[in-house]
Amino acid sequence: MSFRVAVVGATGLVGNEMLRVLEERSLPLSCVIPLATSRSSGSRVSFRKEELIVEDVEAFDFSRVDLALFAGGEIASKDYASRAVQAGAVVIDNSSAFRMDPEVPLVVPEVNACSLVQHQGIVANPNCSTIQMVMVLKPLVDKVGLRRVIVTTFQSVSGTGKDAITELETQTRALMDGQRPERRVYPHRIAFNLFPQIGSFGLLGYCEEEWKMIKETQKILNHPDLAVTATTVRVPVVRGHSESLLVETERPITCEEAVEILSGFDGVRVMDQNTYPVPEEAAGRDEVFVGRIRQDTSSPNGLHMWVVADNIRKGAALNAVQIAEVMCDMGLLQEKAEKS
Ligand SMILES: NC(=O)c1ccc[n+]([C@@H]2O[C@H](COP(=O)([O-])OP(=O)(O)OC[C@H]3O[C@@H](n4cnc5c(N)ncnc54)[C@H](OP(=O)(O)O)[C@@H]3O)[C@@H](O)[C@H]2O)c1
Repeated sequence: MSFRVAVVGATGLVGNEMLRVLEERSLPLSCVIPLATSRSSGSRVSFRKEELIVEDVEAFDFSRVDLALFAGGEIASKDYASRAVQAGAVVIDNSSAFRMDPEVPLVVPEVNACSLVQHQGIVANPNCSTIQMVMVLKPLVDKVGLRRVIVTTFQSVSGTGKDAITELETQTRALMDGQRPERRVYPHRIAFNLFPQIGSFGLLGYCEEEWKMIKETQKILNHPDLAVTATTVRVPVVRGHSESLLVETERPITCEEAVEILSGFDGVRVMDQNTYPVPEEAAGRDEVFVGRIRQDTSSPNGLHMWVVADNIRKGAALNAVQIAEVMCDMGLLQEKAEKS
């Protein structure tokens, strides 16, 4: 069996990383077709030492592929995902377009692969900050139970896409040269600064990213009443999101027990107190790193953790390809020729 795969948004950060992840891993592929808007159509992206020509998604016939990995943003997903499904392709979508749709599984393979069986053509990849957090919450939910989760994030600019990296670089250069930095992507200067807003403000004064973390976590853990609250902060880091996580467990646990539980979970790597994770070292890596595990001095059931992961890999591209691999193993992804 081998699959024909389209990557929508192949010229962007996540789409391009999907090509790298597909190169590295073992999902059998018969062809890969990069797609983007007419702006980039005709440009080239590299894949397995070849130069692939980017095609315009608007004109693309999705019956040419078995699987479509979407990383073109919410508008692209809303415009083209159902067309891809109608053409018989399975869609794995990185945008927020379908994440809270009750018919669409929202999946981190290590956490809730079982929900894939309910898919009706589209599977949603969670938000990058949510993915790394649920990777740590899941083993704790299973082993000790959770009452409450309080998270503060420190999110890199790559989480906003390639234009935000350019903004951080050009503002930094301008400031170092004594010039006035221009602002295009963010509501505030990001170079030598940070701000507690990711997305627009909504209900109860929470911003979009905070609501995503709350609602997506409850859906993925199948725990709609889990008490979760979040503050999301954009920081001048290029790649890798960090999270300060405080959890309240159902019963008190020691740090040693927490280390043992977390170390036994696939994809999580526990670091000791003196070698806590930092985004610079997590960038380019597949694992979710956890450090600074310590007791909450204000509550016997409280546990602090510092969680760092590469938002473009486990937070997006890697997770999407892992979903495809698990679907293949579960017999949920097939070559079209076999289906008809
Ligand atoms: N960055 C992260 O950490 C992260 C994590 C999880 C999820 N995501 C999600 O992944 C998606 C892509 O993010 P990114 O960071 O890769 O953004 P990006 O670097 O800005 O790239 C955007 C890509 O989407 C394409 N595109 C834009 N509008 C499109 C449209 N209407 N139809 C088809 N393609 C379109 C662009 O093509 P052109 O070259 O033609 O403009 C480009 O290839 C977003 O939905 C984002 O929320 C990102």
